Amino acid sequence: MGINRRDFVVKTGLVGLGLAGSNLGQGSSSAGTLDGATAGEDRQADKARVQRFNMSGFAAPPLAKVRVAILGTGQRGPAYIHNLRNIEGVEIKALCDIRPQKVHQAKARLAGSPHDPDVYTGEDDWKKVCERDDVDLVVVTTPWYLHAKMSVYAMNHGKHVASEVPAAGTLDECWQLVETAERTRRHLMMMENYCYLPFQLLTLNMARQGVFGDVFHADCAYNTSKMANNFSKNLYWNMWWLRQYAARRGNLYPTHGLGPVSTIMNINRGDKFEYLVSVDSDDFMMRARARELAAKDDFFKPFAEETYRGCMSVTTIRTTMGRTITVQHDASSPSPHNLIHGVYGTKGAALYDPQPPRISLGNHDWVSREEFKRLEEKFKPEITKRLSELASRTKAGHGGTDLLENWRLIDCLRNGLPLDQDVYDAAAWSSIVPLSQQSVLNRSNSVDIPDFTVGAWKTNKPNMDIMLESGGNTEIVA
Ligand SMILES: NC(=O)c1ccc[n+]([C@@H]2O[C@H](COP(=O)([O-])OP(=O)(O)OC[C@H]3O[C@@H](n4cnc5c(N)ncnc54)[C@H](O)[C@@H]3O)[C@@H](O)[C@H]2O)c1
Repeated sequence: MGINRRDFVVKTGLVGLGLAGSNLGQGSSSAGTLDGATAGEDRQADKARVQRFNMSGFAAPPLAKVRVAILGTGQRGPAYIHNLRNIEGVEIKALCDIRPQKVHQAKARLAGSPHDPDVYTGEDDWKKVCERDDVDLVVVTTPWYLHAKMSVYAMNHGKHVASEVPAAGTLDECWQLVETAERTRRHLMMMENYCYLPFQLLTLNMARQGVFGDVFHADCAYNTSKMANNFSKNLYWNMWWLRQYAARRGNLYPTHGLGPVSTIMNINRGDKFEYLVSVDSDDFMMRARARELAAKDDFFKPFAEETYRGCMSVTTIRTTMGRTITVQHDASSPSPHNLIHGVYGTKGAALYDPQPPRISLGNHDWVSREEFKRLEEKFKPEITKRLSELASRTKAGHGGTDLLENWRLIDCLRNGLPLDQDVYDAAAWSSIVPLSQQSVLNRSNSVDIPDFTVGAWKTNKPNMDIMLESGGNTEIVA
């Protein structure tokens, strides 16, 4: 699919990791490619970049109706259907998946609603969907190594794009997203729903109000066991997640942790990522599980021959303004779910996981539960107040957070407002996928992180309007 086997192994440098004989990366399309470039070549190439148009703060003309198409109706696609069908002004025009059964099941969810989308099931039908002239927004919920090529094609055909996370798997794809959005002036929002979690929004507001002083460090993670999911024969299409673990190194899923803390630290708006170092532990679980399953079921035999991304990936990012962020990813160990979300400043701190969430106003201690509740009420932003109101009217995933994210996207498009996250966020947060791998494969040496804003970060303004100063008039129609 788009890349021959030899190129894949050479470009990713996976020869040295014993993956040259592997078959599993082949389903990965652009998965694992690092542009074949060294960090030095990347730096030279970045110097030649210019910003064609600044998409930070960009507002597209308002849309009276938002006509939506969804690419990929596995697990995530239907979650969008469930939320979008309940939002005023949305018309779901098309659903596309290479598995006919999935796409028909997804359409069945809309029975009895005003939505009557056309369905597409061919391998390249997603292009036909993007070419339609009656679609405004393409939602991309295919496996993530397909996101960038679908998003670029959609923008090139005049569509705004809401891409699932991460938005890209290679550095070249990150740049393609930026350059296409700037050239076409179409939104590319990576739907980082963890930015809409109540405690993450609370701490964003508190940071904006100066409660933590100067925030100089954050810890974040997506640590949650996906062992059962990854080894399920019928959950993910074509075992694509397990193949990613066999084909890659570094952080495969950085944005859930990184999105909220990057927003708090005004990354791309007053600061930016400068460089990173990344370390992987060995894999102590996945190969063992593959072998255990292969002993009883031939289906797993190819997987038993693989080596996998280690149990723990740890990346440390240094920002240009001298601050630090650590990002972890552990999807195999049976430890409790942990996003960390630790925010540390000169006057105070916050910590989400392990639960319960905590706030410190200094004095080397966390505040009492009573004081926590008082602060929570005082600093709860308007957008969170709206969440409880919206969620009470429909059943939404991730505690209503997904509904809030979808509602904000549609509300901004209907009102012609800037979106909460822009293409530079998508590129910077997603770039940690290929760059952490590059560092791991190079004995954890530091790797520069490109400035996707090409200098505009110095003057860009924060754009997540958590106080709902404009818009907010879109209704739930459930
Ligand atoms: N933000 C979140 O909380 C969250 C949660 C789950 C998944 N995700 C992201 O959503 C994406 C999808 O994950 P999922 O769990 O739904 O995976 P999935 O395997 O269940 O669904 C992916 C779907 O894409 C389809 N597909 C593959 N190639 C296609 C093509 N060429 N054209 C059309 N359809 C194609 C597959 O048939 C499958 O139905 C991933 O990128 C994942 O990272 C995000």
